[in-house]
Amino acid sequence: MTITSNPHRTLVVGNWKLHLNTSQASLLLHRLQERIKIYRDIEVVIAPSMLVLQPLSVQIDRRKFRLAAQNAFHKDTGAYTGEVSFAMLQDIVHYAIIGHSERRIYFNESLEMIREKVASAVRNGITPILCVGETKQENRAGETKQVLHDQITTALADLTSTEVKKIVIAYEPVWAISTFGGELAKPDDVQKRMDFIRKQILDLYGKRVADTVRILYGGSVDQDIAGGYLSIEGCDGVLVGGASTNYQKFSGIVDTAYRLRYGGGN
Ligand code: PGA
Repeated sequence: MTITSNPHRTLVVGNWKLHLNTSQASLLLHRLQERIKIYRDIEVVIAPSMLVLQPLSVQIDRRKFRLAAQNAFHKDTGAYTGEVSFAMLQDIVHYAIIGHSERRIYFNESLEMIREKVASAVRNGITPILCVGETKQENRAGETKQVLHDQITTALADLTSTEVKKIVIAYEPVWAISTFGGELAKPDDVQKRMDFIRKQILDLYGKRVADTVRILYGGSVDQDIAGGYLSIEGCDGVLVGGASTNYQKFSGIVDTAYRLRYGGGN
């Protein structure tokens, strides 16, 4: 296939999941800010818990980092006890992770709900990082392409092609998430899935959109194996979970992204 990814900035996203209270989050950000420099071609994004987004937005060095929400509710306002909307987050975050497998599995998020969240994020000026990926069972049954196709087509259904252009898609095989020391996806296989995802975008929205959409890999990425994924043709970055709450590991991944971009050390 002769689709090429745009030479856009490498995206390194840290998903802190349900870790770190306010003071722990502030300390980790402080350490990352000391350790990570300003890189023109590398974009570093932090996705802390909803609770600490606001304090971190005051502390964060915006020349180095951008913030992402891990989730939000698709209605802007209303009688929805316990929810926080994309509308409320629009001045605080640049990105929102949507459709993460942990939300699909533990919180029963359906394809339809994810479509609504993607539309709401875009409507409120927030860039979705749409997570897609197959379970082990689906993988074994040979259903991966169908799963990816369904997840992508439904999630993007409400968007115009201009809006799709800005989207980030993270390919995260569910069986490879947080396995550290366990099963890992092989970069060659990841490449095939990423090509397939880009081909879906090509078929639906045309070449310019397919070339512009950024596609990340996620699944037990740490500083030792990040380079294998970041070297994949058409891979625009990584979505990091477990390793992102350790400042040495996370900054090691950013260093790897830097070396691959510029060669040598920083
Ligand atoms: P992991 O998480 O790096 O711990 O596998 C990735 C993710 O869930 O996005």
